[in-house]
Amino acid sequence: MKKMQAIIKKEPTPGLRLEEVEAPEPGINDVLIKIKKTSICGTDVHIYNWDDWAKRTIKTPIIIGHEFVGTIEDVGSNVNGFNKGDLVSGEGHLVCGRCRNCLAGRRHLCMRPHAIGLDREGCFAEYLSIPVTNVWYCDKNIPEEIISCFDPLGNAAHTVLSFDILGEDVLITGAGPIGIMAAAICKHAGARHVVITDVNPYRLELAEKTGVTATVNASKEKIENVAGKLGMKEGFDVGLEMSGNADAFREMLAAMCHGGKIAILGIQERSSEINWNDVVFNGLTIKGIYGREMYETWYKITSMIQTGLDISSVITHHFSFDRFEEGFEAMRSGKSGKVILDWSN
Ligand SMILES: NC(=O)c1ccc[n+]([C@@H]2O[C@H](COP(=O)([O-])OP(=O)(O)OC[C@H]3O[C@@H](n4cnc5c(N)ncnc54)[C@H](O)[C@@H]3O)[C@@H](O)[C@H]2O)c1
Ligand SMILES: [Zn+2]
Ligand SMILES: [Zn+2]
Repeated sequence: MKKMQAIIKKEPTPGLRLEEVEAPEPGINDVLIKIKKTSICGTDVHIYNWDDWAKRTIKTPIIIGHEFVGTIEDVGSNVNGFNKGDLVSGEGHLVCGRCRNCLAGRRHLCMRPHAIGLDREGCFAEYLSIPVTNVWYCDKNIPEEIISCFDPLGNAAHTVLSFDILGEDVLITGAGPIGIMAAAICKHAGARHVVITDVNPYRLELAEKTGVTATVNASKEKIENVAGKLGMKEGFDVGLEMSGNADAFREMLAAMCHGGKIAILGIQERSSEINWNDVVFNGLTIKGIYGREMYETWYKITSMIQTGLDISSVITHHFSFDRFEEGFEAMRSGKSGKVILDWSN
């Protein structure tokens, strides 16, 4: 059996360990990927911290991580058209293939999905084996560090492209890496004003680099004042909730125009309360977003990057995989965008 280095949640306690484990053997329908770069997600930080969500969700031991780029090392006997050395990333949600939505081609709405790095072995390792149906073939002209962020970039694109944004005024709550990538997509896709809020000045500064119309520090300024300065009289046409914070969501509801459309990616707190009459009387549409559309979102992010979408400013840190602790520290500090771990040696 081949051995590999992997970042593991070994026991149900805070922290992670780098250990040597057995490399996976691909099944007949699987592709074995040699990992080049991975990026750390907020989800991985929850698992590191071992918060209530992680305690409820994760069964130890497990290799964590779901954002990656690598090359094909080996393929199962049923797999055709993929060759050793091909540059690939992959969809982290594994679908059942049998429920009504899967059969109808709406795989992102699968009734029984699994997720790599959550309920099956993840990609923070030298090798990852996933079904061939989850492999995304990559354009070699796109920098590998950008491809390693295709999963969260896909979250951002799925959310932004849920509604028509050409010529519209867009409010984004939460300038985390995904909110910032969403802002860049809004600009790329022809929105008029793109206003993004956060309470963290470091994050707002990062967001400014995407060319947003305005940033709002929600702990100091009112969204309506900023909208007023921009000459907006009727509120935002499209809202993208990317903070998971109840105050941010409430402020968004109040800042929307009548008939406005909201897509929610941010995972809301259990106690989140909203004034439902903002939704009813103002005729708002609200859509929840989970994951990425398979594989329309992957296609769109590839073609947007090929036509000049630039998310490079959201990548702020690089570490070799054996310095993963520093990567998690950077994420936990709030003073980071995407943090990349390099596995090539
Ligand atoms: N639905 C899905 O499939 C899916 C997938 C990935 C991530 N997510 C969620 O999407 C959200 C964004 O992801 P991320 O990785 O960018 O997360 P993140 O935690 O890095 O970013 C959230 C940002 O919201 C900011 N924030 C906190 N309070 C705020 C307030 N009152 N007003 C404005 N901003 C405020 C934080 O300072 C932070 O910068 C998270 O909630 C994450 O859990 C959902
Ligand atoms: Zn992620
Ligand atoms: Zn299904």
